[in-house]
Amino acid sequence: MTIIAPSILSADFAKLGDEIKVIEQAGGDWIHIDVMDGHFVPNLTFGPPVISAVRSATALPFDVHLMIERPELSIEDYIAAGADRITVHAEACTHLHRTVHSIKEKGLPAGVAINPGTSVAVLEPIIHDLDLILIMTVNPGFGGQSFIPYSLVKLRQVRSMLDERGLQHVHLQVDGGINLETAAAVIEAGADVLVAGNAVFGAKDRAAAISGLRLGGTK
Ligand code: DX5
Ligand code: ZN
Repeated sequence: MTIIAPSILSADFAKLGDEIKVIEQAGGDWIHIDVMDGHFVPNLTFGPPVISAVRSATALPFDVHLMIERPELSIEDYIAAGADRITVHAEACTHLHRTVHSIKEKGLPAGVAINPGTSVAVLEPIIHDLDLILIMTVNPGFGGQSFIPYSLVKLRQVRSMLDERGLQHVHLQVDGGINLETAAAVIEAGADVLVAGNAVFGAKDRAAAISGLRLGGTK
């Protein structure tokens, strides 16, 4: 079953706790939390204090996507704030293997994200250590951007890498431009976790948007 992870980047920040509750009621599976530092990406969002403040709003897992430089310096802060799983960018880690293992040693599933301009080859040396691979389907930084079609090639490549190694338990996540038009193609290419910001928070009926995405959109 496809997992739907609504991104609170598209929520009304003035009532973030309530927005998260609505997502839980609407059938979201994970709460996707986009942390941006204004350096790794050209936007600044929130950090551990805000995550901690909304932790009690839901029992759903907090899927924390760190778009920050040197994430190894603050992994513990995100865990203390309530992260249930943490994804770091390959491009932001000088010692990616060490950072992935520092997340796992603290008992959390670890993910690695790659930008649209990064080859899937960087995943090969650490693929056996991962719980999740995030293929960015837009350049990270903002919600509401258009899906980059070449992402489908990368998804198929990673799905093959996982299948060839018997790593079907590793989640393959997509993030950026996922909506009712693009959902079917990414699922067909092998994604099993769909992040969606505008497609969920911009919908009049969020429950319908979530179930529509899960079913593969308009296909
Ligand atoms: C992009 C973020 C995404 C973003 C997705 O930098 O990582 O999670 O919020 O937003 P939509 O679904 O609107 O493209
Ligand atoms: Zn994200």
